[in-house]
Amino acid sequence: MSDKHDNALMEKIVSLCKRRGFIFQSSEIYGGINGFWDYGPLGAELKRNVKDTWWNDMVHKREDIAGLDATIIMHPDIWKASGHVGTFSDPMVDCKTCKGRFRADQLEETACPQKPSKCVQDCDGEKTEPRDFNLMFKTYVGPVEHEDNVAYLRPETAQAIFAQFKNVVDSSRQKVPFGIAQVGKAFRNEINPRNYTFRSREFEQMEIEFFIRPDEVVEAICGAVQEPGADDKCADPAREWGWNAWHKHWFEARLDWYESIGLPAEKLHIRWQTADELAHYAKATADVEFDFPFGQQELEGIAARGNYDLSKHQACSGKPQIYFDDEFQAAIKKLDEAKAKELAESYKAARIKYFRAAIEDSMTDEEKAEIEARAEKVTEKDIEQFLKGNYIPHVIEPSAGADRLVLALLCSAYDEETVTDAKGKEETRVVMRFSPRVAPIKVGVLPLLKNKPELVAKAKEIKAMLQPLMTVFYDETGAIGRRYRRQDEAGTPFCVTIDFDTLGDGEDKSLEGTVTLRHRDSMEQERVKIEDLIDLLAPQVR
Ligand code: GAP
Repeated sequence: MSDKHDNALMEKIVSLCKRRGFIFQSSEIYGGINGFWDYGPLGAELKRNVKDTWWNDMVHKREDIAGLDATIIMHPDIWKASGHVGTFSDPMVDCKTCKGRFRADQLEETACPQKPSKCVQDCDGEKTEPRDFNLMFKTYVGPVEHEDNVAYLRPETAQAIFAQFKNVVDSSRQKVPFGIAQVGKAFRNEINPRNYTFRSREFEQMEIEFFIRPDEVVEAICGAVQEPGADDKCADPAREWGWNAWHKHWFEARLDWYESIGLPAEKLHIRWQTADELAHYAKATADVEFDFPFGQQELEGIAARGNYDLSKHQACSGKPQIYFDDEFQAAIKKLDEAKAKELAESYKAARIKYFRAAIEDSMTDEEKAEIEARAEKVTEKDIEQFLKGNYIPHVIEPSAGADRLVLALLCSAYDEETVTDAKGKEETRVVMRFSPRVAPIKVGVLPLLKNKPELVAKAKEIKAMLQPLMTVFYDETGAIGRRYRRQDEAGTPFCVTIDFDTLGDGEDKSLEGTVTLRHRDSMEQERVKIEDLIDLLAPQVR
């Protein structure tokens, strides 16, 4: 695990992001607002590419995932059922001396606002006892600000997926195992937003709920559940997979994806949550972490959540969330009665366990009794349904943050090197080494001189040819070397320069119809035919 903290690097990245229009402080002209960030022209392209690439690779390229685009404000009972109203909180302490509010579990890492050389833990300010602070933003629906009209800005996109599970099953041709994906805004009233955009109050998530058969169902159909060995790759889904293999499949798939968009493997780590970190419903959670300049931190959580969420929504809404599986129905009919009953009892016991595990010491007796009553509602009826081929699917949840990923890409792409210019002078080249797949601008199109109409016309022609397929930036201002540097800082992987040879006006007439293609990372230049540009560039930037 890396705990290197490179503040100087982080400062350079923050400065470049503002200067080049990747990220701005929200509401800056009014002094900003803590925990909120805007994306400038380059940042907006980068973030859009991140979300589009995720959607393309996770939804369009897989046959077992369907998309959803749900509202940010939903029925408030959703957040009661999910446990967010009751327990989505962080422990907060107030400092009576400096009037600051801090996360009680981060006092060692948070600088005291009055004595920044000390952390809050070590400063002598008088602090209150920790108390729970709910992270959900509240609002009112309709004109009356009354408790009855309270609603919440969603703190995660996941719950809408659970709430629409039945509609997606009924309206699409998906069969378990399959996933539902969603990209969208989430809001958390974080006590201490920090590390630039890393912990914000408004951010975007890219979440998948991947619904799988409970292990008892897999056993009924296949005779046994296939457990993956530590060295086995789980790339190609198999009918025999239980939750363990699916979980492995997902964290391998997600690691591969991060590499495919340019994050280096050596900076990515899987960290298993320890038993005391795990949410009460989770069987296991593997976090994908990245070496940020401020330390190794979470990019994505991949949780095996059992059937906790659908069970809770079934219990709270009164609407069945069971799934009928014809293959399972046929299989369970063939089992002898004792084996079928054993599997049904095991399935029922697991569901009761999820409910009981939700009981927390801090809950009131009434809340505990309510959960106990729900657990008792898991009865013989559930066994009957199971024996007829119905079950509540389990879920694996790969949940990523788009803004955190953009930050990881910015940190990973930033590079400085000393180069010698055409006049032999040494200078520092700042270059954002984005993967062409996510780079905000794919190609810079540069006429050698702006006061030569033939060069400008040809450059604009090439720009028009490439533009339907990729983002192109046309730049005719300044010396060509300066223009290359500007594109290096923007992270543009390719530049196309149009010169007199292109027009057939140079000494070497064979170069007519060719341009200089300059590669950002190596700074190498090659001469290519205009007609070959699309075939050369398009596959690299998608
Ligand atoms: N549905 C599960 C869930 O929301 P989470 O670990 O709380 O799990 C998932 O959030 C991801 O969302 C995180 O790995 C992170 O990338 C992103 N995320 C969470 N809180 C964030 C915040 N305050 N600012 C930016 N990104 C955040």
